[in-house]
Amino acid sequence: MAQMPVSMMPVPIRNKIIGIGSYLPERILGNEELAKMVETSDEWIKERTGISQRHIAADGQKTSDLGYRAALAALDDAGIGADELDLIVLATSTPDLTFPSTATIIQERLGMNRGAAFDVQAVCSGFLYGINVIDAMMRVGNAKRALLIGAETFSRILDWEDRSTCVLFGDGAGAIVLEAAENTDEDAPGVMDSYIRSDGRYRDMLYVDGGPSATQTVGHLRMQGNAVFKHAVTEIANVMRDCAARSGVDIQDIDWFVPHQANQRILNAVAKKLKIAPESVISTVAQHANTSAASVPLAMHAAIEDGRIKRGDLVMLEAFGGGFTWGAALLRY
Ligand code: UT7
Repeated sequence: MAQMPVSMMPVPIRNKIIGIGSYLPERILGNEELAKMVETSDEWIKERTGISQRHIAADGQKTSDLGYRAALAALDDAGIGADELDLIVLATSTPDLTFPSTATIIQERLGMNRGAAFDVQAVCSGFLYGINVIDAMMRVGNAKRALLIGAETFSRILDWEDRSTCVLFGDGAGAIVLEAAENTDEDAPGVMDSYIRSDGRYRDMLYVDGGPSATQTVGHLRMQGNAVFKHAVTEIANVMRDCAARSGVDIQDIDWFVPHQANQRILNAVAKKLKIAPESVISTVAQHANTSAASVPLAMHAAIEDGRIKRGDLVMLEAFGGGFTWGAALLRY
């Protein structure tokens, strides 16, 4: 068989995180204050979830406002301007409007008049879906620099009279800038692999009971918490194992785990299942609660800022959410 000349062989691309940023709304809603709104207690919330407080967007503060602030911080950290981006992907389930995409609203505010911007909707797994899509697009040369944002205002879709859900979520945004580089070195920084999954049979366990086509309303979040919990632990552990195995990496050799921040008990159960040291699992669930697609970049930024995650470290991200959707990504920071 004729061999392809080396000059024509596809060059391996590694997409490196060159900047990260996040934004949390000013208003903090603590458990004690929540206990005045619904029949719950600080003790119950902390014991069952690990959550102490959550941030709530101000009246009129939209998902695009949060995402824009996180994007500016990530671009500043990367030291590039928005005009140097080819692509913006926003992971959200709480868009400003039914359309246009909130990504295009942020694109306009950033003054980026080139490339493309679009939203991905995979609920709490949105950031992992975003990494998967961007990494694939960049590997085939469709973009050289991309901005991935996870931004949510879940406070707007909560039923504030339902104690089984309203205590669990918060608002926030996180963003990363990725840059493609030709690289043949296995240890080069960048996304090594990402793996996404979904199973629509479980839709009714976690959903919003409204939408433009079905009800012409926005709706409220509904969840069978206990069932979601069990599926989350099983599938997160599975996808992390699969993602590591595909890269030929031993789970024990990973330096840091940045999970979706839904419940401290889920984090603990997955760590136990995979025999991971609890100290290597980044947790911001106490301060941020569940910020859906924003939770992974928010947690990752916190651990980079406080000096735990350093350049060269092997990091695994993971998430699980409505759909069900789930996924994991392995990267060298
Ligand atoms: O981000 C997407 C993924 N989402 C998740 O991963 C969330 C997964 N689920 C969970 O985190 C947990 O299932 C919850 C935190 C939602 C609930 O914890 P649980 O240990 O599964 O409790 P439960 O649903 O079995 O409820 C236990 C009891 C119930 O009372 P009874 O029936 O035993 O009398 C609930 O009514 O706790 C009651 N309860 C509450 N009590 C005080 C539920 N919510 C509250 C509350 N305060 N806020």
